[in-house]
Amino acid sequence: MRPFLFLAFATLATAQNRPGINYDEAKVGNHPLPPLLIAKDGSKVETSEQWTSKRHPEILQLFRDHVFGHTPAMPDDVKMEVTGTNTDALGGLATRKFVHISLAKHPQWAGMDVMIYIPNGLAKPAPVFCGLSFGGNHAVSKETDIPLSTRWMRESKEKNIVDHRATEATRGTESSRWPLEMIVKAGFAVATAYYGDIEPDHAEGWKDGLRAALSLDGPNTAWKANDWGAIGAWSWGISRILDYCETDKAIDAKHAAVIGHSRLGKTSLWAGAQDERFGLVISNNSGEGGAALSRRDYGETTKVITKAFPHWFCATYANYADAPNANPIDQHMLIALMAPRAAYIASAQEDNWADQKGEFLSGLHASDVYALFGKTGVGVKDWPAVNTPVGDSIGYHMRTGKHDVTDYDWEQYLKFAARHFGR
Ligand code: GCU
Repeated sequence: MRPFLFLAFATLATAQNRPGINYDEAKVGNHPLPPLLIAKDGSKVETSEQWTSKRHPEILQLFRDHVFGHTPAMPDDVKMEVTGTNTDALGGLATRKFVHISLAKHPQWAGMDVMIYIPNGLAKPAPVFCGLSFGGNHAVSKETDIPLSTRWMRESKEKNIVDHRATEATRGTESSRWPLEMIVKAGFAVATAYYGDIEPDHAEGWKDGLRAALSLDGPNTAWKANDWGAIGAWSWGISRILDYCETDKAIDAKHAAVIGHSRLGKTSLWAGAQDERFGLVISNNSGEGGAALSRRDYGETTKVITKAFPHWFCATYANYADAPNANPIDQHMLIALMAPRAAYIASAQEDNWADQKGEFLSGLHASDVYALFGKTGVGVKDWPAVNTPVGDSIGYHMRTGKHDVTDYDWEQYLKFAARHFGR
């Protein structure tokens, strides 16, 4: 075999068929899901009031105890400083602001640098999309005057990350996932920060991040089984972005969406579950630990994810590595926590690692809770064909292509947000 062909084959083989991973729908198993609408005391949940006062808090607590861990009490020293404003960004389309968010009494945490684009010339304050990036603000935007992130990043020759730091060559490299002009032209603001500002994404990363700073013992902390993991910390950061938005007169923070891709899609769901100020919660290809049902043995499993990324979750989650069915929750319950707010789940056709059908089924099952509020969730019973968006209060689509965020995805989110935010 010529080396080129062999390489191409090997890449495909890893992406599609990691050894020991099931991709056969006939073998996913048929495990009953934990009931959404039966409370812990065995009573039926039949009204929106019963959901809100009883079942919703129970399920939120289950996710804290078994998956993401507990978010500590809000510190009283959050500091937000606007460090730069440019009213002529994106060729005059937007005003760009930088905001440094830190904790005045916890200087061990270097804080986070939020970048915000607000459309110019709107008659009213702009609704906003909040979300974290993988590569930093300078990677999200193509504008060349954006400060290069100086924080830890995963080493990658291919991505021009050298000595764990971004280089000039990384400018704009995440811009296809953040179509800023499209978002701003649709009348939305967008507020983002580098996820590694909050916590570097590796097993020991918490020692240099928010979690150590907020812990009494700092980097010597011995975590308890249900203490928060990195996803908890990243979600906390997204809520602080929204805190800033609430103070900015040009932003309509009453109409805020949270968005994230992949591990940051899991983060977006956990942020949206905990912070009800987000009226729309978007999961883009979030997969295992995100929107995908974990009882389905298809693509990534609880076992694989807790072994590869133990720091994302609370320690208890790993107890379900060999027994996802013993977990008192499954991911349809995470989507249900958004009800009656709007939610959107997106899959990609080539992203079977994320179990696209399992992502859809979470939305389908969560729809039962929307019904209590007189709302329609995904509004269909069958997994829709590719490039066929569906949904009322829960949007869903599976687009052609790979694990990524594309213009197609954003077109759907912008339409959905406009509908739900009454624009
Ligand atoms: C890995 C991981 C996924 C995650 C993804 C990402 O593939 O197994 O769970 O969603 O990384 O964040 O890109």
